[in-house]
Amino acid sequence: MMKTMPTDVKSLIQEGAELTDKALEMLLPGADTVPASIHGAMRHSTFAGGKRLRPVLAMQAATAVAGKLPAGPVLTGIAQLGAAIEMLHTYSLIHDDLPALDNDDLRRGKPTCHVAYGEAIAILAGDALQTRAFEVLASLPCPAEATVQIIRLIANAVGTVDGMIGGQVLDLESERVKPTPELVEAIHRAKTGALIRVSVVAGGVYAGATAAEAAALDTFGRKAGLAFQIVDDVLDMTVDSEHLGKTAGKDQATEKATWPAVYGIEQSERDAAALIDEAFAALAPFGSRAEGLKSVARYLVERKN
Ligand code: IPE
Ligand code: IPE
Ligand code: MG
Ligand code: MG
Ligand code: MG
Repeated sequence: MMKTMPTDVKSLIQEGAELTDKALEMLLPGADTVPASIHGAMRHSTFAGGKRLRPVLAMQAATAVAGKLPAGPVLTGIAQLGAAIEMLHTYSLIHDDLPALDNDDLRRGKPTCHVAYGEAIAILAGDALQTRAFEVLASLPCPAEATVQIIRLIANAVGTVDGMIGGQVLDLESERVKPTPELVEAIHRAKTGALIRVSVVAGGVYAGATAAEAAALDTFGRKAGLAFQIVDDVLDMTVDSEHLGKTAGKDQATEKATWPAVYGIEQSERDAAALIDEAFAALAPFGSRAEGLKSVARYLVERKN
């Protein structure tokens, strides 16, 4: 069964988030499954109320390529890809919050994983979400060639060379260092941009993108991913913890290398908006099929949490 997505961005995000949540519910071991502590911890962080923006981006990229979102039973749909990406993202958050990294006690409006379950289980819960994600990706119901390509792209995006882990290393090693524009851009592209970019590309590949279409999505994802982290930095300084669901003002307190630290808040807001406009240009080949993707990208910079 094929289904057209609503154009209203709120319902479009809500629908994508619901599909993702259903898939996650089915794909993660139950909280009672032995050893129960780790499954409780994985679920605590996964179902704490994330926005599910990466799965939604993957779904809208697939829609840009195929014209429609493949709906149907959750596990045969793109929701499985979205769920795997969300597992990887949640793993990155659990580890980001650990005392050895950002040392945060609030995430998605709830106590962080290590606060609720202890540090050892939180470390292992992150590890386990990562391995489960790749197991789920290996079972994607798409041609084997596309599955292998998606796994390779995602593993690379989470890795150490211009990927999420490499970006986290740069981020930590740049605390209390006077940031340059080049340094902050390198951190942001890697720690956050890479996973957002690959969410878009993988969604397109899942839907059968040609090499040219995948390249266009890559250009779009690169710019949107950088814009996303610029906005994350601005929100850290402008929104309170209650609305953010995580500790506000943390970046200045720990002297993180952020976009506003280099450019100030107003210029950061302008930069994020300009990047989204530039990102849109890459979607021209998709015509009106990319409207959903564009509206989600606009939301990435207009969001308030
Ligand atoms: C937060 O990501 C962490 C960053 C990579 C900046 P999100 O803002 O997407 O967090 P959730 O998933 O909605 O909690
Ligand atoms: C985290 O960046 C990026 C990853 C989790 C990879 P931040 O440290 O800025 O994220 P928040 O603000 O804690 O969500
Ligand atoms: Mg961090
Ligand atoms: Mg952090
Ligand atoms: Mg942040």
